[in-house]
Amino acid sequence: MTRSPLDLDQETMRRLGHRVADIVSEHLGTIRKEPVIASLPRAELGRALARSAPRHGVDFEELISTLQQSVFPYHAREPHPGFLAYVPSCPRFPAVLGDWLASGYNFFAGVWPVAAGPNEVEIVVLDWFREWMGMPPTSGGILTTGGSAANLAAVVAARHAAIEAGGDISRLTIFTSEQAHSSVTRAAWIAGIPRENIRLVAMDEQYRIVTDELERAVAADRAARCTPFMVVASAGTTNTGAVDPLQEIADYCVAEKLWLHIDAAYAGFAALTSKGKTKLSGIERADSLTLDPHKWLFVPFECGCLLVRDTAKLTSAFRIMPEYLTDVQPGEEEVNFADRGEQLTRYSRALKIWLSVNYFGTDAIGRAIEMAMERAMLLEMLVRESADFEVLSPAQFGIVCFRARAVDGEDARALDALNERINSRVVSGGRYLISSTRLRGAYSLRMCTLGFRTTMDDIRGLFAAIEEALAAERHRPG
Ligand SMILES: Cc1ncc(COP(=O)(O)O)c(C=O)c1O
Repeated sequence: MTRSPLDLDQETMRRLGHRVADIVSEHLGTIRKEPVIASLPRAELGRALARSAPRHGVDFEELISTLQQSVFPYHAREPHPGFLAYVPSCPRFPAVLGDWLASGYNFFAGVWPVAAGPNEVEIVVLDWFREWMGMPPTSGGILTTGGSAANLAAVVAARHAAIEAGGDISRLTIFTSEQAHSSVTRAAWIAGIPRENIRLVAMDEQYRIVTDELERAVAADRAARCTPFMVVASAGTTNTGAVDPLQEIADYCVAEKLWLHIDAAYAGFAALTSKGKTKLSGIERADSLTLDPHKWLFVPFECGCLLVRDTAKLTSAFRIMPEYLTDVQPGEEEVNFADRGEQLTRYSRALKIWLSVNYFGTDAIGRAIEMAMERAMLLEMLVRESADFEVLSPAQFGIVCFRARAVDGEDARALDALNERINSRVVSGGRYLISSTRLRGAYSLRMCTLGFRTTMDDIRGLFAAIEEALAAERHRPG
């Protein structure tokens, strides 16, 4: 039997696979010694890689060596203990292996008959999430590429339900807040909601939707013969970790027959802790809910999730059955995940979740989430103890926002610029990656403490680095 040259023998596959396992385990095992971020301008990187694909194959070691020299060094190391920017993704190793298994088997997790095993794993994982969030057994969903895709599928499902109910798309209006993640607005754009029909409801001092304002905005739209159809609340905003008043908003949405979507991409898994559960009270009332396992469930990119209270509403928005797929109809109780989202061909994201949650158990994961919240509280305390800094938004889940205080009548622009320079100094030190945001227009340092490798000492070290950066800036000539 002649073998295809593309078909490696078992021993070669094992050797190459071990090589990769060694590289990844060394990377993760020694990550603390690496800089948290390194980058190069395009002009330099552009020269590092051959521009045309070779006609003849290149030795694997040579390829690995190119990657090690010219690719791997130049990135922000999300699993690094000093990575406190944006929303860190710090995957557990068994989850990484789950991804590798999913690719190795190349399951086609779009339809039931060709991947019954992996599809069942996805149903199990979605059931876990549903139970953790307290949603009813009628709920179901899908694992997506991320939170943005989950928000998009939710808006599509809600729009579909509104149109089925007789709505005219040009009159549909959607309500969210300025603090909602930008993917909500983008989802509305993609779903064909006219851009001028996106309402950003006023917020309170703590960046939460004011329910009275929501009610007023909906009433004004109805008076103007628009059709309010959906409210998107946040349970853990990206900027500050704020949670909208979920119970109040849910009461209102039930009374007014509005679809309530809750974006809990980042904070949702805090429901695995008792404190988080209390803060997220009301999340279980969502008509649809976004979660992002690649954030606080410690699995690698890409992995989001949408849960919908009435699964039939999701299927009704996405299901289509062309003749070339009639062989892969699901049976009773079986799921074609292609009927719940935009992807037909999709890999099994469930495997990495299933493997890593089973490997550690929910107690250990809940504890890791709790510790992330404790780190954020420590950071807030250090800021409050310092006369030179002020908290702009306190620790909520794993996020704290603060800035250096103004001195001697320093104006707003100078203060923003000072804090920007502090950020740059800290980042250029190579040990910590932090990021910034703007809160009511003011530049704010923003830190997110989710990564499980980050210790309390790292937080103290980070704050010391920030204090040093401020001191250096204050004594900077000119
Ligand atoms: C609250 C919230 N929603 C949605 C998203 C978008 O998720 P993703 O980047 O996975 O698409 C994020 C990302 O940080 C987020 O924090």
